[in-house]
Amino acid sequence: MEGTTKRPGRNRIFLVGFMGSGKTHWGKIWAEVTGLDFYDLDEEIESKAGMSVSAIFETHGEGNFRELEKTELREFEKKENFILACGGGTPCFSDNLAWMKSAGRVLYLKAAAETIASHLKEERQKRPLISQVPDGGLLAFIGEKLRERESYYNQADQILEVSQLGPGSLDHILGPGR
Ligand code: S3P
Repeated sequence: MEGTTKRPGRNRIFLVGFMGSGKTHWGKIWAEVTGLDFYDLDEEIESKAGMSVSAIFETHGEGNFRELEKTELREFEKKENFILACGGGTPCFSDNLAWMKSAGRVLYLKAAAETIASHLKEERQKRPLISQVPDGGLLAFIGEKLRERESYYNQADQILEVSQLGPGSLDHILGPGR
């Protein structure tokens, strides 16, 4: 297992995966269990920009959001002992994935398109990429985007099946003496 002996950034954990795969949900739980700090990259961007992710997309466009995302991600070079829930697109733009892999450990939370769709139905408005997709087209949209993005997600240091996750999963991965 590559990550267990990897340094520096042994305690820099980057959670990647599609929108609605549970990065924030599990990140918060694992932070409680492990004592690591929890951050959400979208929230960091929102507080720096003083506006929501949806408003950034609407007002300035996705390209501008991706620049802010890249810049905010690099801020984590200054931190240690954290879990960062990245945005669904974070590893797929610029050299973010390579950067995260060099700074710490990247975990892909892998979920089936059906699971993602059921999570996302409730939370469409917060997510500009799917806010205009009709209910009937959501699953197909997710399936297609997931196929595009999996080539990035699959380069993570470890792939975790979301259906198998529990509160102790990260503790187990980090192992003793971290
Ligand atoms: C995006 C995912 C969102 C957010 C933005 C773009 C994406 O984050 O960064 O809406 O490109 O998949 P979540 O995965 O936290 O929803």
